[in-house]
Amino acid sequence: MKRTLGTCYYPEHWSTELWAKDAERMVEAGLTWVRIGEFAWSRLEPTPGDLHLEWLDQAIEVLGQAGLKVVLGTPTATPPRWMIDKYPDMLAHDAEGRARKFGSRRHYCFSHAGYRRECARIVEILARRYGKNPHVAAWQTDNEYGCHDTTISYSEAARRAFQEWCQARYGDIAALNAAWGNIFWSMDYNDFAQIELPNLTVTEPNPAHVLAFRRFSSDQVVSFNRLQAEIIRAHSAAPTAHNYMGRITDFDHFKVGDDLEIASWDSYPMGFLEDRVGAEPAHQKAYARQGDPDFQALHHDLYRAVGRGRWWVMEQQPGPVNWAPYNPAPLPGMVRLWSWEAFAHGAEAVCYFRWRQAPMAQEQLHAGLLRPDSVDAQAMDEVRAVRDEIAQAPDVAPHQARVALIFDYDADAAWAVQPHGAGLSYFGLVFDVYKALRAMGQSIDILRPETRDFSGYDLIHAPGLMHMDAALKAALIAAQGHVVFGPRSGARDADMTIPVPLPPAIAGLDVTVDRLESLRPDSPIALEGGGAFTGYRELLQGGADVVLRTADGEPAVMRSGQLSYVAGWADVAGWRAILTPLCQEAGLTVLDLPGGLRLRDTASERFWFNYGAAPINYEGRQFAPASVLRETRKD
Ligand code: GAL
Repeated sequence: MKRTLGTCYYPEHWSTELWAKDAERMVEAGLTWVRIGEFAWSRLEPTPGDLHLEWLDQAIEVLGQAGLKVVLGTPTATPPRWMIDKYPDMLAHDAEGRARKFGSRRHYCFSHAGYRRECARIVEILARRYGKNPHVAAWQTDNEYGCHDTTISYSEAARRAFQEWCQARYGDIAALNAAWGNIFWSMDYNDFAQIELPNLTVTEPNPAHVLAFRRFSSDQVVSFNRLQAEIIRAHSAAPTAHNYMGRITDFDHFKVGDDLEIASWDSYPMGFLEDRVGAEPAHQKAYARQGDPDFQALHHDLYRAVGRGRWWVMEQQPGPVNWAPYNPAPLPGMVRLWSWEAFAHGAEAVCYFRWRQAPMAQEQLHAGLLRPDSVDAQAMDEVRAVRDEIAQAPDVAPHQARVALIFDYDADAAWAVQPHGAGLSYFGLVFDVYKALRAMGQSIDILRPETRDFSGYDLIHAPGLMHMDAALKAALIAAQGHVVFGPRSGARDADMTIPVPLPPAIAGLDVTVDRLESLRPDSPIALEGGGAFTGYRELLQGGADVVLRTADGEPAVMRSGQLSYVAGWADVAGWRAILTPLCQEAGLTVLDLPGGLRLRDTASERFWFNYGAAPINYEGRQFAPASVLRETRKD
C-alpha cells in the first residue's frame, strides 16, 4: 500500500465556480483524499427539516470526478442555532454550572437525548444518501471529541444520565455507598436519584465520586460515537474514522476506536508546543518553529494502537496556526519532516489542514496550502516534494517494536482525580518515559491495558497504572520480556480505595510501598546512577533486590527476575539510568541521540529526523536542520 496525502476542504466556504479548479490543483499537488462536510450542518439544513443536500451532491461529484477520494464528515460538532431553540437544555455546562453558549462549536452535552436523536437523524440522512457513492471512500464522525474541554458537562441531562450509569454499575445504593466509602463525612445516599455531579461542593468531593463521573463522561463519548458509527456501517462499506486530538485524555480513545475502522489525529506540532508539551521555556524557544521532537511520535504510536494498526493524520499543520499563545511559521522542511515522521510510524495518510486559508471568521490567521487569494502558500512546495518521494521510494513496511509502553486512559483519570502534588499527571509521567526511550534510540509500540499477549516485546514498561485488574497483572507477570512497574502501580482498587495487602501486590515481586510523598519542584531526590526523582516518590520495603538507590539511601528500583519496580517519577536522565541496563540486558542497542535527533525503525529501514534548527553530525552522518534521512537497516 502506498502512503497517501490529502487535505481538509470546505466547499460551502467558496463559490461553486472554484470547486473544479481546486480539485484539479489538489490532484496536481499529489493529494488523494479530501475531507469535507464536518461543520456544514447549517448549510445542509438551514431550518429544521428543510434539507439542502444538492450542493453536497455536486461537491462530491466534482471532487470525485477529478480523481479525489472523499472523506465525509458528520456535522455534529456544530449544531446549528435553531437546534438551541429546539433544545435549550442541550448545551454543555461548565464546572461552575454555567451553560456554554452558541457562537463557536462543540456546544453540546453528550448526554442530551434530544440532541442524540438529531445526530442520529442527520447521520442517517447522509449515510443513506452517500453510503454507496463511489467517491465517498471514508467517513469521519463528528470532529475532535473533547476539544475545547468538552468531554465533561455538568448539565441536568448529564446528572440524570450519571444516576442511571451509577445504578447500572452498582445495582443498589448500599453497594455504591460501600464502594465509594460514603460513610466518610456522612455522604451516604438513600437513593440513586439523590446523586449529584461532583462540582460546586464546599471542599474537595469524594475521589471515588469524581472518578466514577469521569468514567461515565468517557462512556458517554463512546456511546455517542457508536450511535453514528453503527448508522454509517448499516449503509456504507467505507471505513469510518474519528479525528482525535493531541493530549486530550479525558475519554477512553481505545473504546471509541473499537467502534471505528480507522483512528486518526490532528497534528499541530507548533500549536501544541507551549501548552500541551509541558516543557521549559528554553526548550520551547529551541523548538518554536519545529514542535517538540517527541510529542508527535508519542501520538502516532498511541493512535496506531487505537486504530489497531490502521491510522491517519487527518489534519496536519501546514504553516502558522491561529490558536497557540505565539504562532510562528515552521522552519523550511518541517512540513515534509512531519509528514514523513507520520509515515515512518505507520500512518496510511497525512491530510493537511486546510486547503485554502479562510478570509472570514475565527481562523483567518490559520495558514492553508493556499493563501486566501488562491496563490500557493509556504507549504505547497514541501507537499509536492513528499508527493514525489512517495512515488519514487519503497513503501514503509509495518513493524512490531521490541519495546512496549502501556497507556491507560483510566489511569490518567485516576491521576487527575488524585494527583497528590501540583502538576503531576499520568500523561506527563508516560511522556517522560517515552522521551527517555526515544533519546536512547528505541522505537516503541504503545499498548492498551486490555493487552494480554506481550509476545515479541523485550521490555514492557507500565508506569503509573493506578488500578490494575487481576488479568492485566497476571498477563504482565507471565510476559517473556522484562516488565517495569511503578510508581503508583495498583495503588487503588477499582473504586479508588487503597487496597490491602498494600500496593503494588505483584506476585513474584516482593515489594511493598511503605510510605509515599509528593515533592516540591525545587526539591528533587537524586538517583545514584544520575538523574533524580521529581514530583513524587515512594519508600519501599520487601525482599526483592535493590538494584538502584536514591542519594539518600532508599531503594529507587527493586527487582526480582524479570520484574522491576521503580519507586518514583524519574526525570528523563533518571529514566535513562534506570532503563539502560534493562535494554542492554535485552539485547537492545542503546544510543545517546544528540539534541533534536530522533529515529524510528521499520522492518527494513531506519528513518532519522532532525528536529533541530542546526545541523547535527552523528556517527558519520550529516543531518541538515529540519531534515529526514531514510536508510536501509543494517542490523
Ligand atoms: C483543529 C480542528 C479544525 C481547525 C484546526 C485549526 O483542532 O479540528 O477544525 O479548527 O484545529 O488548527
